[in-house]
Amino acid sequence: MVSAPLGGSRICVRADDAGLEKAQKWAAFLQAPLNPENPENYFFHFCVEGDRVFVRDLEKRLLEIDFDKNHLDYERKGHRGKNELIAKALGVAKGARRILDLSVGMGIDSVFLTQLGFTVTGVERSPVLYALLSEAFARTKKDYLKSYQLHFGDALEFLKKNKGLLEIDSIYFDPMYPHKKKSALPKQEMVVFRDLVGHDEDASLVLQEALTWPVQRVVVKRPMQAEELLPGVRHSYEGKVVRYDTYVVG
Ligand SMILES: C[S@@+](CC[C@H](N)C(=O)[O-])C[C@H]1O[C@@H](n2cnc3c(N)ncnc32)[C@H](O)[C@@H]1O
Repeated sequence: MVSAPLGGSRICVRADDAGLEKAQKWAAFLQAPLNPENPENYFFHFCVEGDRVFVRDLEKRLLEIDFDKNHLDYERKGHRGKNELIAKALGVAKGARRILDLSVGMGIDSVFLTQLGFTVTGVERSPVLYALLSEAFARTKKDYLKSYQLHFGDALEFLKKNKGLLEIDSIYFDPMYPHKKKSALPKQEMVVFRDLVGHDEDASLVLQEALTWPVQRVVVKRPMQAEELLPGVRHSYEGKVVRYDTYVVG
């Protein structure tokens, strides 16, 4: 596996005896020390306790991805199926089924899309998020998540490398929005998440590249009041706090 430094002394890996083997793999990937003598010198702790994997920061805030625990509403009840805005935006009525998610993050949207019956391929560039997601996909008992294809790397590179090689109907992109006040995440998760992934300031370049793919639609999720990421939105599917800007390619 290619390794991925987070930079400086921001993160260490901590494990109990039962989690040691798994922890060694992630310590190598994150290029982070395993069970260091002075863990208080590291702002993020990537913790492996038996099967459980999570991140804590020095303020004891927790970030955990567990698709079966559902603490972040991974299995939505009472959804409206093909009438969900996200499904409409992606073109479900026009037969879109295979989605490329360029910003998996905590996997909330990706998992929901899978629940709605889409086949999803996802890309995430944050090494820590990727590690948490990998473990969550490996651990989940939900059959419909077993076919999920998760990739580590930058979406821009991924798009350049894989153009013409993947069968994708529509592309989905939800970059961080710097002024975003509301979020699907509870407060403590949001703070750790933002600290880890930053601001995605290259988002418009990613969108530009996505628009060169031979797909039906490219959909960008934005907070309601935000400006368009790039001009050329064909239609906006508006919810209460977010909207889905749809670009039609070709
Ligand atoms: C707002 S979050 C996405 C949340 C996600 N839709 C969810 O439901 O959990 C943005 C995520 O996309 C990732 N991301 C943004 N730009 C990216 C890029 N160019 N390549 C790969 N990942 C990217 C960030 O690292 C971050 O984890």
